[in-house]
Amino acid sequence: MTVNRRTALTGIVATSAAFTLAACAAEAEPVKTTLPSATVDETSAPPATEQLLGKASDVMVGSGMKYKISDALTILVTRPALETFRAFNATCTHAGCIVTGVREDQITCGCHGARFDTDSGEPQSGPARSALGKITIEVRGEDLYALI
Ligand code: FES
Repeated sequence: MTVNRRTALTGIVATSAAFTLAACAAEAEPVKTTLPSATVDETSAPPATEQLLGKASDVMVGSGMKYKISDALTILVTRPALETFRAFNATCTHAGCIVTGVREDQITCGCHGARFDTDSGEPQSGPARSALGKITIEVRGEDLYALI
């Protein structure tokens, strides 16, 4: 087989171009595409809102005080001991009445007679089977704040 000069040069140029293309392809950085990440955490609860309820001294030891926050929420604050304040959603877990208040160291509901513990909100007697909803309460100086 005879190879003339033109054929040899064409082969060398073609081979050189192929090596150059291969080298460029190997050095090329892959293009990175990053989609913007979501910034909303759908599993987290909304931040609590502070609500000034009133003076701590308004709630006597062994009693309770109701605070209407909105048409949908009334809070019952109890004071089972001198330095202990508890807050509950005042909506009875039996059938949705607003509990009456504290009587004989129990939260009472006048609709059907449910009674709840003033410290835990757990049902003690009557038709209710689940506890009143707990609400975080803080005493700051003389004031009571609910975090809702
Ligand atoms: S709604 Fe409270 S006892 Fe029925």
